[in-house]
Amino acid sequence: MSLTAMFEETQTGLTDRYFPINLSTVRVDSILDFDLYTRVGGGGQPVLFRSRDLPFPADVHQRLVDNGVRQLFVRNDDRRKYRQYLEHNMGDILRDDTLELAEKSEILYSTSTSLMSDMFENPRQPEGIRRCQEMVEHTVDYILSGRQTCQSLISLTSHDYYTYTHSVNVCIYSVMLTKVLFPGGDERVLKELGTAFLLHDIGKCHVSPDIINKPGPLTPEEWAIMRRHPEEGYQILTELGFMNHDIGVIVMQHHERYDGNGYPKKLKGEEIHLYGKICCISDVFDALTTNRPYRAASSSFDALAIMKKEMIKNFDPDFFAKFVYLFQS
Ligand SMILES: [Fe+2]
Ligand SMILES: [Fe+2]
Repeated sequence: MSLTAMFEETQTGLTDRYFPINLSTVRVDSILDFDLYTRVGGGGQPVLFRSRDLPFPADVHQRLVDNGVRQLFVRNDDRRKYRQYLEHNMGDILRDDTLELAEKSEILYSTSTSLMSDMFENPRQPEGIRRCQEMVEHTVDYILSGRQTCQSLISLTSHDYYTYTHSVNVCIYSVMLTKVLFPGGDERVLKELGTAFLLHDIGKCHVSPDIINKPGPLTPEEWAIMRRHPEEGYQILTELGFMNHDIGVIVMQHHERYDGNGYPKKLKGEEIHLYGKICCISDVFDALTTNRPYRAASSSFDALAIMKKEMIKNFDPDFFAKFVYLFQS
């Protein structure tokens, strides 16, 4: 069972009260604030294995490994607590040499998308920015740890469009592009930029899903609402105390286009800040490589070809050339 699937509703008829988790996500010596369940003999209804508020010692973990148990269960009521547990333990999980790269990437990706789903539901939650910053710190450390981690994350980016998966995808692509453009750049700056890339569309929390997912062209009124999201995002982040020049240009300029045909200010060429240009390229690429109601997702190769042949005037050509490099194996 993939880790992404653990966040989806259980379809198997097993139960609608539990969801599966991988044993590898339960960290030795951590204290859980959710009950853990197991299935005796690998089948039937889950039974309580370990109560919340108890530590999870090494001998208990080893006993499960010795018995071939790789999957445990958590009650659906505790889903949010489990997600936050993953957030708290992400550094430990990503440093664990016994975990496969693919598994780490999937834990990081699914936890990030869940966090963003929370953010769009409740964008003004007081601890939201801190949670995003911590998650981006892990993501940047992970990306900086090598090219293989980048390839692994790219292979996981969701091709189904949700604003929260789009946010994580754009963050991943933009951090990678920034790293390629400025290889000696300051890590702390990259982490701050990463958080702004992650939150670039937070203003869309005010746009109805009917508009975001509309299968046909938007009416002029709907376009007017859609075009407000950079300014609304700027407003929300300012209220949350997460704003400075660099964050501002990412949120405000990610829909500006190099040829001056973007919004909200129709900036052109070098009027667009380099961070705005980076976010713009990632944003368009992710839009092309995800399924939308009006067209199917393109492959990475096809999306890059479309961007080069049909849309190149929208982008800084040097930045686009570096972006292509990210997808060369
Ligand atoms: Fe946007
Ligand atoms: Fe976007």
